[in-house]
Amino acid sequence: MSEALPTILQQANGAGIGEPGGDTDLGFLWDFWYPALRSTEIVGERLATAMLLEVPLVLGRTSEGKAFAVRDSCPHRGIPLSYGHFDGKTVECSYHGWRFDACSGQCVEIPSLSSQDKLKVDRIFAGHYPCEEHDGYVWVFMQAAGARPGEKIPAAPKLATFSDKFKITHLACDLPAHVDHGIIGLMDPAHGPFVHQSWFWRSRGSIHEKQKQFEPIPDGFRMSPHSPSSNSLPYQLLKKRTGELVTTTIDFILPNRRLEEIRSGKLWFTSQTTVTPVRRDLCRIDFVAAWNVFFLPVPIFRMFGKTFLRQDQETMIQQAEGLKHNPRLMLIDDADRPAKWYFALKANLLESRRTGAPVPHPMSGPVTLHWRS
Ligand code: FES
Ligand SMILES: [Fe+2]
Repeated sequence: MSEALPTILQQANGAGIGEPGGDTDLGFLWDFWYPALRSTEIVGERLATAMLLEVPLVLGRTSEGKAFAVRDSCPHRGIPLSYGHFDGKTVECSYHGWRFDACSGQCVEIPSLSSQDKLKVDRIFAGHYPCEEHDGYVWVFMQAAGARPGEKIPAAPKLATFSDKFKITHLACDLPAHVDHGIIGLMDPAHGPFVHQSWFWRSRGSIHEKQKQFEPIPDGFRMSPHSPSSNSLPYQLLKKRTGELVTTTIDFILPNRRLEEIRSGKLWFTSQTTVTPVRRDLCRIDFVAAWNVFFLPVPIFRMFGKTFLRQDQETMIQQAEGLKHNPRLMLIDDADRPAKWYFALKANLLESRRTGAPVPHPMSGPVTLHWRS
């Protein structure tokens, strides 16, 4: 059975602002954590900028080391606050010198006020968002209406690790597409033999029939623990080394996270891939991997990882060319079933946020999918 893709994918060029209640629904999921920057991009007390869900942000770290994210727009006249000055605690606007507490967005000074003025400075806020640093990323919780004092925010995502000593590395790449295309590309098993043909991974000729079991998990689905593709060289090496079974578990969790866990005896490898909406026509893949597999050096891994990402990126650049003309698209069984689950998870979540009813899961239990790749 095939099915048309939700229309947001085909309307990604519409006009409007990016928040719920704006003119256009851009198909973004609000009220989730997204990685805005790498931690290393904030140097000392310098301000950095990023964009998430079409919201411009100015980010920095206070003199106490706390990361913050403020809407990069002065509430007075809208000039980006990133042109201003940061003293380790407050951001001063470059236009009229209003100063805002970096962690709360609260205005602390309006230099032009005279003794006659009754304006309550502390009632003025620059938009700001909860912010945390983990695993080398500055995470920002994109609340639909900006931070609401006292509201409970879930903890930011963390990469699982299974020993004290491990290697960790990060990769990223921009994709010129709506986040939904980025995500369904990420979970798509059928492009592997065509897009990722490499001597070290697999060739088009190695295509064979596969069946994988999936199960529902909260806000997502899991490819149940299984022994990975026998046609992939890295897995063969791992098995040879430990002499133990290699198992892989892959989770997808809303809004945008793919988690992979590979275990073989005491050796482990984990990775997290997020696809983050920057604008309606641009998303970014952030990939972080950690492992204690001693015979896998970081530079070698990065070389392979970059090749992979570049292959995906080149494909999406070509796809974007085609999408300009708003073609009708298809999702087929079983290879596109994870993509269907993603759209259903997302639609169900939005619907339950609207009605207050519990979120139904699109899967009623474990299912086995079949495809060739
Ligand atoms: S525009 Fe920022 S202080 Fe006036
Ligand atoms: Fe890919």
